[in-house]
Amino acid sequence: MTETLLLRGRLLSFRRAPADISDTGSYLYEEDGGLLIENGRIAACGSYADVASKASSGVREVDHRPHLIMPGFIDTHLHFPQMQVIGSYAANLLEWLNTYTFIEEQRFADRAHAERIAVRFFDEMARHGTTTAVAYCSVHKTSADAFFAESLKRGTAMIAGKTMMDRNAPDALTDTPHCAYDDTRAVIAEWHGNGRNRVAITPRFAITSTPEEMEVAKTLAAEHPDLHIQTHLSENKDEIAFTCSLYPEAKDYTDIYARYGLLGPKSLFGHAIHLSDREADAMSESGSVAVHCPTSNLFLGSGLFPMKTYQRRDKPVRVAVATDIGGGSSYSMLRTLDEAYKIQQLLGERLNPLESFYLMTLGNAEALSMADEIGTLDPGTIADLVVLDASATPAMALKQEVNRTLTEELFLMQTMGDDRTIAETYIAGRPAKSVL
Ligand code: GUN
Ligand code: ZN
Repeated sequence: MTETLLLRGRLLSFRRAPADISDTGSYLYEEDGGLLIENGRIAACGSYADVASKASSGVREVDHRPHLIMPGFIDTHLHFPQMQVIGSYAANLLEWLNTYTFIEEQRFADRAHAERIAVRFFDEMARHGTTTAVAYCSVHKTSADAFFAESLKRGTAMIAGKTMMDRNAPDALTDTPHCAYDDTRAVIAEWHGNGRNRVAITPRFAITSTPEEMEVAKTLAAEHPDLHIQTHLSENKDEIAFTCSLYPEAKDYTDIYARYGLLGPKSLFGHAIHLSDREADAMSESGSVAVHCPTSNLFLGSGLFPMKTYQRRDKPVRVAVATDIGGGSSYSMLRTLDEAYKIQQLLGERLNPLESFYLMTLGNAEALSMADEIGTLDPGTIADLVVLDASATPAMALKQEVNRTLTEELFLMQTMGDDRTIAETYIAGRPAKSVL
């Protein structure tokens, strides 16, 4: 039987990247909008009057007025086994990894622990309006199995990988090149395309992979050219120096990954803060994506991501945004873009609220090459949605009283919003927050 649902509310969906804050052509906005959902997909999007006239009589209807309905938020980089690492006190990235992160991730060898955290992870995603995330699991296949099994239950479109790491970490958190290959292949066979799940080839970063394991990543990438690849790049000055000392034959950090065939349009490089011009050219020419993780970069003191410089180049670097839980300090993409805004302020640049909301939705969908499935309210795409309430707290409601424009409302939600701003989340047309 066809499952049909009609949502009413204000609708906002981007068509392309906004050129500036007055670029009204970059998005669709319906003051009294209707969204018709059939079997989890958007069947029609437009004015309520038009869309309601297409719906069969007696269709189930949910009225979200005066809230704003948008495509669900997309988080392009986070760590599923770091939910209990958030807020760990450390001077910098390498101290934070060695003192807390590499200890905590060892617990994910235990299937029961991984399953418990997976439930909590997907609850937090729904609470914060994030409908797709790109996740690192731990080195253990069990953690990927627990993650994908829970995703399958929730009906979410997730990208994740068993992390490959075979050195510079405790023994209980390392694999071997051979085991990394076999386990990644097994995870792909079991989970890639199972429901809406996708598998990413996931060498953690060059510090924790031997050249032999990087060869394995290269082989996997060549065997599965359709898969995403995720790793970390140029996050912290000490990390860069240590990395380059491990691969003296490489021109620079980016060149290490290039030598193992890991650059390309489906490659996601977490952080990528301190790239040289040569590295930025290599990223641009290969279509690789630099994933900006602002709360993490501030929390760990890693540096100020030069987003505008990357985008303005003759050879622009593709950019996505992400929380980087648990180096990052919030699950909320609203909090994340607030910090991204402040980083650009410190760099003397502007990040306008249209760009921010574009990045959280269509921008990140494009970065993942998934805009035909998620990131807009376009008919034919999956109904992964977020319903936003700009008056979610008394202080927000007071400011919203004087807001007159859509951009003012968006900027308020970015500046003061968090999970309380998310009135509802839909996964493939089904409520996912109100049911928690
Ligand atoms: N580089 C390698 N692993 C990690 C990680 O877990 N978090 C962050 N922020 N950087 C990394
Ligand atoms: Zn990370």
